[in-house]
Amino acid sequence: MKKRDLLTSGDLGSQELDNLLDLAARMKGRHPGSLLAGKTLALLFFDRSLRTRVSFEVAMVQLGGHCIVISPEREMYDLEPTEQAVMDGRAEEHVKDAARTLSRYVDFLGIRQVAKSGPWERDRRDLLLRAYAQHASVPVINLESASEHPCQALADVLTMRENLQRLRGRKLVLAWANHPESRSPGASHSVLTLAATLGMDVTIAHPLGFELDEAVVQTARQRAGDSGGKVQIVNDLDAAMQGADVVYSRSWGCLKHWGDAEREAMLKRALQAWRIDRELMARTKDALFMHPLPVRRNVAVTDEVLDGPRSVVYDQAANRVHVQKALLAWLGQ
Ligand code: CP
Repeated sequence: MKKRDLLTSGDLGSQELDNLLDLAARMKGRHPGSLLAGKTLALLFFDRSLRTRVSFEVAMVQLGGHCIVISPEREMYDLEPTEQAVMDGRAEEHVKDAARTLSRYVDFLGIRQVAKSGPWERDRRDLLLRAYAQHASVPVINLESASEHPCQALADVLTMRENLQRLRGRKLVLAWANHPESRSPGASHSVLTLAATLGMDVTIAHPLGFELDEAVVQTARQRAGDSGGKVQIVNDLDAAMQGADVVYSRSWGCLKHWGDAEREAMLKRALQAWRIDRELMARTKDALFMHPLPVRRNVAVTDEVLDGPRSVVYDQAANRVHVQKALLAWLGQ
């Protein structure tokens, strides 16, 4: 049987998504202790992480398996991703050899690499992740790339389902937030795709110049067309909040100037008002407040909202364990 990977939210069909969420909900109540006994997951973190790293380690422990965590930039050789490269530069090892070797040791590979050197047309392709997926013979899981963060989005929609029961027709506002640094749109892309797949009415609210990837928005519109959902884009945060059931706050970088931190910082100078506060939340239908974390307090969202009764940010983080158990069980079949 051909191995499955999870590289993007779009890799999951509607029925698969429902099945995974049902399995995660069942696994939340109990620890199926020996399902992955003797199995190993290698986690390669080219970038920092708190939640992804710890939640995958805990998920493997709860399934009876084992994790190996590697910081490739300190612990592995520099990798060459290009086919037929003449390797006379800095790279000591081809990604094909690393992927094939790791596949002989472990049962799953997880990779986090958020490419930020620009331009977006190159970084959006998640070349290293895709090279690993191409050459590994074991399932490869995206732990967050420039383009996608599917594990986060699975935890997000599970959290929404637990709180709202029915998601079809519910209004989700995906609200751009200010941030002093350039952040990947991966989490936003992934939750957009899954929410559209589940028939939600998604409003993307962002300032001009901070458009999400056109192809991802197009896929979400197609998915919404199939599920009875909607996807619309507005540039007015105040208006977007009307009638919202969920406010999902996240910063993402300017894709047109991706990799150019100075240019992006200039664009953001006048955007301090893109911060979720009590007044904005009061326009909603007593909406849940969500954020994938880490969050810049009182820049993206006020303490009052983040620590308030409608904030479910720690439930999102906790649900990472359960959706990842379901994912590992499914990929490991
Ligand atoms: N949300 C998320 O992926 O958190 P980390 O960057 O801490 O893994």
